[in-house]
Amino acid sequence: MKCFEYFVKHYFFFSTLASLDICMCCSARGRIIASAHTKLQDLFSRCYNRSLLPVRKVAMTNNSIKRGGFSSSFGVLAATLGSAVGLGNIWKFPYLTGANGGAGFLLIYLLATLLVGLPVMIAEITMGRAAKANPITALQKLNPSRLPWWLVGVSGMVAAFLIMSFYSEVVAWVFAYVFKAIGGSILSSDRQVTEGAFTSLISNPLQSLLWQWAVLIFIGSILLMGVTKGIEAVAKKLMPLLFLLLLLLCAVSLSLDKAIDGLTFLFRPDFSKITAGVILTAMGLAFFKLSLGMGTMMTYGSYFRDDQNIPQTTVRVMIADLFVSMLAGIAIFPAVFTFGFAPSAGPSLVFITIPAVFSQIPGGHFLMIVFFVLAAVAATGAMLSLMEVPVVILHERLALSRARSTLLTIAVLMLLGSSSALTNNVLADFKLFGMNMFDLFDFVSSNVLLPIGGIALAVYVSWVWGADRFMHALSNNGALSNQVTARVVLFVLRYVSPLLILLVMLKGLNLF
Ligand code: TRP
Repeated sequence: MKCFEYFVKHYFFFSTLASLDICMCCSARGRIIASAHTKLQDLFSRCYNRSLLPVRKVAMTNNSIKRGGFSSSFGVLAATLGSAVGLGNIWKFPYLTGANGGAGFLLIYLLATLLVGLPVMIAEITMGRAAKANPITALQKLNPSRLPWWLVGVSGMVAAFLIMSFYSEVVAWVFAYVFKAIGGSILSSDRQVTEGAFTSLISNPLQSLLWQWAVLIFIGSILLMGVTKGIEAVAKKLMPLLFLLLLLLCAVSLSLDKAIDGLTFLFRPDFSKITAGVILTAMGLAFFKLSLGMGTMMTYGSYFRDDQNIPQTTVRVMIADLFVSMLAGIAIFPAVFTFGFAPSAGPSLVFITIPAVFSQIPGGHFLMIVFFVLAAVAATGAMLSLMEVPVVILHERLALSRARSTLLTIAVLMLLGSSSALTNNVLADFKLFGMNMFDLFDFVSSNVLLPIGGIALAVYVSWVWGADRFMHALSNNGALSNQVTARVVLFVLRYVSPLLILLVMLKGLNLF
């Protein structure tokens, strides 16, 4: 009997996670399994009626879970922007722009944002709001076809875990650097000192792990407060602060001697550096920066108010996100050029070059604290949105309480993320496909999973869910007259974005 209970429990676990489709689609013996499924469901309901199992009844009817939501229009904007703006802007964008030739890269990034990023963001948010559910349920609920589209939601959840595994480690460095900046030990014009400080942090396994865990617990505790009182409330406070700090840094940087060299680098295109790989990187960055391709925006869309104008909000988020990236570039490159550092230092640009640069500016100690607080602020909003995806999936699919699903997510991340935390020390020599775990997680998520997720979502919304439903939802059920916008978005989603993403991805991965 124990054995049977165990089997039924686990069987039920999977069937709630994936519903019937998984048996039908994953097995060549679909019919046999499907009939086994029916029998098991019978058995299961008998067990259930006799209260043999600790049944999670709510999991079967997702509707019965009360959902949170963003309470005001500003809250929607702040939270969505909070997700988009993150280390992608403050850390990835400057170092990738620096390493890939400056303005040429920027231009391609802009194109990718307009042709791919914006339409996919609109698609995700519209779907999320229409379904008012986590990504897996949303894809299932709106699906008029027989294909198992919910798998896209599952792959999104996998991507979320992969991204958080390395992202949480960079967030950990940022948080550690806030304290180091306050202490002042990293403020030195001697590159050896700033490099030494960074190396000693990342090569210490215990420090790396503990900072990462602290970050996970910090973010988890905000999520525990819920969507309105946690995510939205925090974003509303942090976003204005972020702009203020960034403007302050830009003003200082622009007043430096060779500010103009930095600006030239950032704004004058050099197309000689553009290769297929660079284009893929720019597109991957567009996905990453706008939090697309894995269900984050779909999840946040499910918290959108019904009267929210989606195209307008997404355009605002896109512009503000771009503005933050530009400001980060303007804050960093003039200073880097003035003091003769290399703009192409790579991922360590922020951690090694920046402290050295600040050491040469009057008031540098204070400004350096401002810079790392700014990065921590940006990282918090983004990390909240990343973690919310598995939390809400586990919460709604398995009917775990929010607290339990948060704890479960943190536990999984502590395990999986440790491989990133240990990349620069214990696991330094461990490589898969020629990459260490940190780079592998970054590469697979940004350059493979997010683009594939983007293609799938664009196709799903525009072809499967269909033009009528999409346009109806985008116009708030007819309340807005945005037919032309909706048609343009639909056209791009149908014919431009998926093909472009596919082409860039295959070329960038050297597959043709
Ligand atoms: N956009 C965030 C940044 O720029 C990171 C992020 C949050 C993200 N949610 C995401 C990236 C979902 C990809 C997918 O730092």
